[in-house]
Amino acid sequence: MIAIGSDHGGFALKRAIIEYLEEKGLEYKDFGTFSEESCDYPAYSEAVARSVVSGESEKGIIICGTGIGASIAANKVKGIRCALCGDCYSAEMTRRHNNANMLALGGRVLGVGHALKIVEIFLNTPFEGGRHQRRIDLISEIEAKG
Ligand code: RB5
Repeated sequence: MIAIGSDHGGFALKRAIIEYLEEKGLEYKDFGTFSEESCDYPAYSEAVARSVVSGESEKGIIICGTGIGASIAANKVKGIRCALCGDCYSAEMTRRHNNANMLALGGRVLGVGHALKIVEIFLNTPFEGGRHQRRIDLISEIEAKG
């Protein structure tokens, strides 16, 4: 399952991504927000992140205006590796090298077509493992220090 959430700044792009997930027949859970009314992005990031670390969802996608606040908030949850991506190359490499389990997007930054391509790459690119696992383990060690 894919967990997805946004604030008001990411609401329009979230709808487009949900349409894409439905077209592809991918299971998803929408953690809100459910309108363009102003709201606070950390709550949505946390809800999506908890769904991922609990194992309920395989990956998470969050969207705010820039993707920055949403990604910062998500990365506060232990076990989350949330990558803010504004291009296809980064989306591919964050899966291959960082094993990112969450994708953050800027709803006020990206065109819909570009964003959907980033989502497609993020969802379909496997982790390479090997030396990259060692580096992720080093990130986990930093996280464990608190
Ligand atoms: C909301 O206006 C905006 O600050 C938010 O969507 C996001 O861009 C924060 O990083």
